[in-house]
Amino acid sequence: MFDYSGKTVFVAGGTSGINLGIANGFAAAGASVFVLSRDPEKVDAAVAEISSHGNPAAGRPADVRDSEAVAAAFAQCADAFGKIDVLVSGAAGNFPAQAKDISSNGFRSVLEIDVLGTHHVMTAALPHLNQPGASIINISAPQAFNAMTWQSHVCAAKAGVDMITRTLALEWGPLGIRVNSVSPGPIEGTEGMARLAPGKGAMERVAESVPLRRNGTKQDIANMCLFLGSQMASYVSGAVIPVDGAWSLNLSGTSFDGFAAQVKHTD
Ligand code: COA
Ligand code: NAP
Repeated sequence: MFDYSGKTVFVAGGTSGINLGIANGFAAAGASVFVLSRDPEKVDAAVAEISSHGNPAAGRPADVRDSEAVAAAFAQCADAFGKIDVLVSGAAGNFPAQAKDISSNGFRSVLEIDVLGTHHVMTAALPHLNQPGASIINISAPQAFNAMTWQSHVCAAKAGVDMITRTLALEWGPLGIRVNSVSPGPIEGTEGMARLAPGKGAMERVAESVPLRRNGTKQDIANMCLFLGSQMASYVSGAVIPVDGAWSLNLSGTSFDGFAAQVKHTD
């Protein structure tokens, strides 16, 4: 449906889970794809998987909290593949814990990966973006707008990511750069859900709380990113777009007392 032949896509945090699914989606549509994450073995494995679609792929180990390492990755990507048409920023950290049990370093880790990391990724990308025309997609989460117990650090961090999205849509709109957030619902087969809904039957219980009565797939999120990166979305900027089967609306309802309660975290 979408043709990304000759386009360059950079996916920060693109070596596993949803972000790897997004990287695969763009590669399957013809793009050259560059991925970044901390673990060199994950980077190598992801590059091999993404390459299997028959288009160029490369990657580099880097921590999004390290601005110099992030800048070096963008320089390498631009050298290899030219200007970047689509940037996906999806590196994130999460663990379930009540605020009273989160140390200063634990809270800082999540804030720095999500919020500072998004700032590093977006600002390091800027000189290498195709202007006008580039599309930036930050990966958010329902925690940005739905308060969830055991998720105070993630709620704060993802709300910060969405405000960066909105603010840079204003600052970079005149350059012809669109900036949006995609907010996935519960996505099956991911590290995030393994942490938040562990144990037998937990994902099935989560699916029952989704109005569409199923959990999402990595392809569901890739599909939205393929749309946002394309000319079909040329007037979409500054938006935070849920791709969640209306799950986040249900989280605000009276029938459901928060996601963490659903998966039965207790003291
Ligand atoms: N409950 C409370 N605190 C926790 C915790 C938990 N379940 N897991 C980690 N922490 C704390 C650690 O104790 C540490 O704090 P301390 O130094 O005061 O003891 C702090 O978080 C940082 O942990 P560390 O492992 O050193 O940080 P890191 O930067 O290597 O990793 C994390 C960051 C903690 C977010 C780690 O889980 C991670 O790398 N996550 C990436 C993958 C992921 O989260 N995927 C899902 C995305 S939705
Ligand atoms: P995941 O597989 O753990 O993906 C996280 C990715 O980010 C990994 O590739 C990880 O690789 C990388 N990463 C983590 N910390 C990093 C750092 N400091 N620097 C560079 N890279 C880093 O988890 P996921 O569940 O698929 O989540 C992906 C995204 O979707 C996240 O933004 C998450 O918040 C969002 N999300 C997920 C769900 C869900 O259902 N899973 C729902 C809503 C939103 P390394 O370990 O090699 O660094």
